Amino acid sequence: MQKNQNKITPIIGMQWGDEGKGKGVARIASSLSPKDLIVRFQGGNNAGHTIYHKGIRYVFQLIPSGVFGQAQIHLGAGMVINPGALLAETKKIPKNVSFLKRISVSPHAILTMPTHLLLDSISEKTKGGKKIGSTGKGISPSYTDLTLRRALRVGDIFYSDFKKKYDHLSKEHQETLLNVFKYKVSAKELKENEKIFFEGIKFLHSLRITNSAELVAKTLSTRGKVIAEGAQGTLLDVRFGNYPFVTSSHTIASGIGTGLGVPPSFIGGAIGLFKAYTSRVGEGPFPTELGGEQSRIWCRDKKVADEKIKFPNPDPNSRNEFEQGVALRHLGGEIGAVTGRLRRTGWMDIPLMKYAIKINNATELILTKLDILSSFKKIKVCTHYIINGKKTQEIPFDLSRSQIKCVYKSFPVWKGELSDYGKKLPKEALDYVKFLEKILSVPIIYVGTGPEEHHCVERYWK
Ligand code: IMP
Repeated sequence: MQKNQNKITPIIGMQWGDEGKGKGVARIASSLSPKDLIVRFQGGNNAGHTIYHKGIRYVFQLIPSGVFGQAQIHLGAGMVINPGALLAETKKIPKNVSFLKRISVSPHAILTMPTHLLLDSISEKTKGGKKIGSTGKGISPSYTDLTLRRALRVGDIFYSDFKKKYDHLSKEHQETLLNVFKYKVSAKELKENEKIFFEGIKFLHSLRITNSAELVAKTLSTRGKVIAEGAQGTLLDVRFGNYPFVTSSHTIASGIGTGLGVPPSFIGGAIGLFKAYTSRVGEGPFPTELGGEQSRIWCRDKKVADEKIKFPNPDPNSRNEFEQGVALRHLGGEIGAVTGRLRRTGWMDIPLMKYAIKINNATELILTKLDILSSFKKIKVCTHYIINGKKTQEIPFDLSRSQIKCVYKSFPVWKGELSDYGKKLPKEALDYVKFLEKILSVPIIYVGTGPEEHHCVERYWK
């Protein structure tokens, strides 16, 4: 990877998250050296980055996906960190992987407390039909405390008044839970969760704590590469996503500025990751969703087991779009890596992609999970929207309050599995890739054709 010498390379999800960033980052990480750096700049353990390493599947939520490479890894200032979850995650890493010498954490990152998790899930429950579908990991309350200027940060754990500050804030949270949400926190439950939290704090004490801004500047000045690993996706950005159906942080490339404390001039062109189709988890508008409203409600209310009973063998070529969506979910394993929820599925959406490319300055793209479409006879791409009778590729201010009609173009699908074709793409797949490249005006440097690292077709990969 030679891109962006002396600048940070952002790796950003172009859709609603779950674009396969873990595999993309792991692949880039394998070519990095100990003087290079992979950083997370926002979000917390709401993320779920799946990596297959030596045939074993790992899901990382807080630790950057470069853990199996040689580069330094850093949990940046813009993150929210649940210490117990961090400790649990490190225990999943095989003993022979020497990551502890390579990992560091920003003192400015926010600590997610047990009461943040309660505030998240209880407040979601009371929203009824207006819920966001949060991952329940306490992300929004943790960021809320940052802007309320009362959050606990990683650097606070080194001061003698840390426990006092913790107790004070926990008490405030419990009062809110009781007075606003009529929820009494059980002492037993709190004690158990605090035990896990403080074990995590002890673990944090053993890690290297480093200012993100200084670490990044130093790495760049010694000609090291810096990869900023995005989490979630562009459309979940708290300001530029489909508000309010978003996460609480800045998921886009410019979030690197405030997430790491670096000036805009440090941020190079982004590598944008996107799936060969679209998925989203949780609530909110989704113009190309297969089965539309029926799919949204189904995915909100049903579990994987329910779906398996009703659709043991969903037909990707069914005439019923809802069933096609179910088939796409089965084939793509589109089940939330963090929550186990059914992800909603639909076709590629070009207006949304163009928006994401523009606001992230994505100068290269990685297309993932193309193999998932192998069982379809025909696939579709939404090339335009029709809004108020007008054909457009621009997305409106509020996707949920606009009547959007999608204009589709269909493509025939290749025969057999993509892996049968080795390192070459069959004609139909190549036509699809070239079409996307042309309409998006950005080169697709790498195409994912299966879950493991070697399942890929490199196009202009340097
Ligand atoms: P929160 O980040 O847990 O507050 O959830 C807010 C919204 O973002 C919900 O719709 C979640 O399903 C979604 N979300 C959060 N993290 C991810 C992710 O890593 N992938 C996909 N969706 C996510």
